[in-house]
Order: sequence, then C-alpha cells, then structure tokens
Amino acid sequence: PTIHILNGPNLNLLGKRQPEVYGHETLADVEAACTALAGELGLTTAFHQSNHEGGIVELIHAAREAAQGIVINPAAYTHTSVAILDALHTFEGPVIEVHISNVHRRESFRHHSYVSLRADGVIAGFGTDGYLMALRRMARLLG
Ligand code: DQA
Repeated sequence: PTIHILNGPNLNLLGKRQPEVYGHETLADVEAACTALAGELGLTTAFHQSNHEGGIVELIHAAREAAQGIVINPAAYTHTSVAILDALHTFEGPVIEVHISNVHRRESFRHHSYVSLRADGVIAGFGTDGYLMALRRMARLLG
C-alpha cells in the first residue's frame, strides 16, 4: 500500500520554528524516518508540504488516484479549513491526523479540528514520533 504524508503551513521551517514547541528535527529528518519505517512495514510513502490551503486540497485530490491512506498534519489549517475537510471527504481510504505538539494543552483556538470530523484517528503531543505511530497504524489497517 501507498501512503501519502501531507504537511501544512510553516512545517517547512520545522527545526527552526519554535523548537521549544516542535523540537529540533527538520521536516527532511521526519521524511527520512518515515521512509525508513515504511520500508520495514512494507509501505510506500510520498511526503509533501504546502503553505497554501489550495495546495493541500490539490495534494488530497492527487492522493485519491495514487494512495490507499493519508497521514496529514494540516498545521494551522486544522483549525480553520472546511475546504481541507471537504477534500478529505472525497478520499475513500483511512486518514490519520497528526500534530507534533499537544494541541489540547495550548491555546483554545487549537482545541477544535475540522479535520478530526473525517480522521479515523488523531495523534497529538508525541513529537515527530506521531508520524511513525500513524504509519504503524496504517500498516495494521491496510496490511
Ligand atoms: C500543529 C499544531 C497546530 O495548531 C499549529 O498551527 C501547527 C502545527 C502541530 O503539529 O503540533 O502549525 O499541527
């Protein structure tokens, strides 16, 4: 099975951006760890990031053709985007929502997620390990 791992705005700055909240690993480090684990799990992964809401919508449309599952960290659009929720509703396979930080311990505007209305599971507060946890779950669901 092929899993598309999609990342929203500002995650291109992972490692430099508020490291006290998001840690020192870069998005390239996360991608490398995901690729390595996916190999062990018998999954193929494609890793993408966009700072634009419509860009994420189009990445979800592309996953409709090419992926059996989506792991998504929609970043700030989690809390605002009906368009991303609607796009995910057009995808038929499992969707797992990942947040590096524990959004529930942060500002109240981070407590609501539109994406959670579609997600089969949500991982928050485990740092970048959350991506690897999501891939393990995908292997269970699709293996
Ligand atoms: C985030 C949490 C969001 O609230 C925030 O806007 C992000 C990253 C996380 O991974 O913890 O950009 O999705």
